[in-house]
Amino acid sequence: MRILLLHGPNLSQLGSRDPAVYGTATLDDVVEAARAQAQAAGADLDHLQTEHEGDAITRLHATRTDGTDAVIINAGAWTHYSYALRDALELLSVPKVELHLSNVHAREAFCTTSVIAPACDGSIAGFGKAGYPLAVQAALALAAERPA
Ligand code: DQA
Repeated sequence: MRILLLHGPNLSQLGSRDPAVYGTATLDDVVEAARAQAQAAGADLDHLQTEHEGDAITRLHATRTDGTDAVIINAGAWTHYSYALRDALELLSVPKVELHLSNVHAREAFCTTSVIAPACDGSIAGFGKAGYPLAVQAALALAAERPA
């Protein structure tokens, strides 16, 4: 099994970005938490963080042919308005897990809408770094259920 973990804008700044909301774990820390869970299950985890929407979309397109079995995406603020990202996710037949560190449902009004949620199988939000292994477990469980 091969999972793509994709991070969108400003998540490169984790660790020092508003720790009261996002915690003190760095991007490397949360990726490592996901990778450890994947490896424990015998799966591989690829990771990309980008500030550029087009790069994220190009990477999602690549999963159509590169053997990726599931996608986990923390799209940052793109979550709330990027129909281009939503369209790219809709193109994929593999399981897709939407992930957020913070509880987006309990935040500013603009955060409570996710335009990518309808293109994903489910979402995990509000558990900080602990959400990453949970997302890996969800992605692997959904991928294992898919018909070969
Ligand atoms: C976030 C939530 C988004 O609303 C915000 O724009 C982010 C981070 C999260 O992980 O909690 O950049 O995706």
